[in-house]
Amino acid sequence: MYLGLDLGTSGLKALLIDEDQNPIAEATAPLTVSRRHVGWSEQDPADWISAAEHVLDKLAGTVDLSGVKGIGLSGHMHGATMLDANDDVLWPCILWNDTRSSEQASAMDGDPIWRAISGNIVFPGFTAPKVQWMRETHPEVFNRISSVLLPKDYLRFWLTGEKMSEMSDAAGTSWLDTCSRDWSDTLLERSGLSREEMPGLVEGSQVSGTLRPSLAARWGFSGDVPVAGGAGDNAASALGMGVVKSGQAFVSLGTSGVLFAACDGFQPDPETAVHTFCHALPDMWHQMGVILAATDALNWWANLVGSDPVSLTRELGALQAPGATAFLPYLGGERTPLNSASVRGGFVGLDHATDRAAGTRAVLEGVAFALADNRDALAAAGTTVESCVAVGGGSQSEYWLQVVATALNIPLDVPVGGDFGAAFGAARLGMIAATGDASIAVPPPIKTTVEPVSALSQAFQDAHARFREAALHMMELS
Ligand code: XUL
Repeated sequence: MYLGLDLGTSGLKALLIDEDQNPIAEATAPLTVSRRHVGWSEQDPADWISAAEHVLDKLAGTVDLSGVKGIGLSGHMHGATMLDANDDVLWPCILWNDTRSSEQASAMDGDPIWRAISGNIVFPGFTAPKVQWMRETHPEVFNRISSVLLPKDYLRFWLTGEKMSEMSDAAGTSWLDTCSRDWSDTLLERSGLSREEMPGLVEGSQVSGTLRPSLAARWGFSGDVPVAGGAGDNAASALGMGVVKSGQAFVSLGTSGVLFAACDGFQPDPETAVHTFCHALPDMWHQMGVILAATDALNWWANLVGSDPVSLTRELGALQAPGATAFLPYLGGERTPLNSASVRGGFVGLDHATDRAAGTRAVLEGVAFALADNRDALAAAGTTVESCVAVGGGSQSEYWLQVVATALNIPLDVPVGGDFGAAFGAARLGMIAATGDASIAVPPPIKTTVEPVSALSQAFQDAHARFREAALHMMELS
């Protein structure tokens, strides 16, 4: 048996799989995000530990965990968890979708050394500008920093007692030399830090430590259970879906939206706001475009109209050509391709006939067009996406899948029912670390392929062009 733990923004999920990678049991515990000020997004790391205790209690209540031979971790990326010399948390973890450090990020990004070494724009969501914000606004806290850990790596610290990270998540800090897969002393020094404050690094599929004996005894694990490096949630999802070779890609309609392609070389293109990170397997990288609100946008709309996403999308009927109303999903700024913390969303082209269904269609289309902008950004970076696996909560909606397939003009493979997400990918990394066999990361069986609706593809292309124009105006207004 192998255990995957995925620390998601809205909950921690544990998934146990057997030797044939079939799910045996799962457990989840909810997590909330605190937004003390506009643009802030934080979590208390103590809540992650409580959530982990909760899911392990639940699993140990149903399954004998003595057969677990490996554990893998995954988690939301970029968060800054700052610890003092006693390993006490100095400040709530500042999350990936927190935009308070936009000024620091653009100042840092103005120095070409960051893009040259990290291969990426210094986005406000990344770790280094958050620590810089702390340095400038709360020097008394900054001066006490003894370690900076990414969210899942804090969980690892609790599980194993080791301060370790792995390449895929480390690449999202802005401090990694993403080509040579090592911390950059030059970039750390620019942040007033050094390797001293950084965790050690392993590949995602390597062993990073073993479960602490006290925890093993508490939940009935036996022997030295290895904990794999694991991966940031997107690379972990890629492992879960077998997206591990050049030419393979996935699109995720989760809280954020992601278009992810595996690459067998390092080919950064920061100008396009594409992310170029290490993959969770050695000698592999990946490129991805990230939009900050996918299901988040639909959830916002559902709240506003007093409904829920499932009811809203179920009532839409057959795919329609985009109407006059367009929606820009930039509720909390945007990453790829706009790289703007201050841009905001909006509806344009509202008229007397715009009803709830038209609003819902516009929201689904807006997210799809934002993903189409990512497809174009990846293409400009040299990565052509010709088909993808579709995952995430939003992929439950047939209508939304058709919208995305038609807007991107690529077929979407929908896996059979089951869980091929980040927790599964993490469990796979636990298995690879324990067995040394990376060939197990195969694609899932496909239930159906959603083809672009060719009769509507011109209408979608025209609507995408209008969307892009509206996005430029929103940028001017921001
Ligand atoms: C990736 C990103 C998000 C988070 C949250 O760069 O910010 O996908 O990892 O899931």
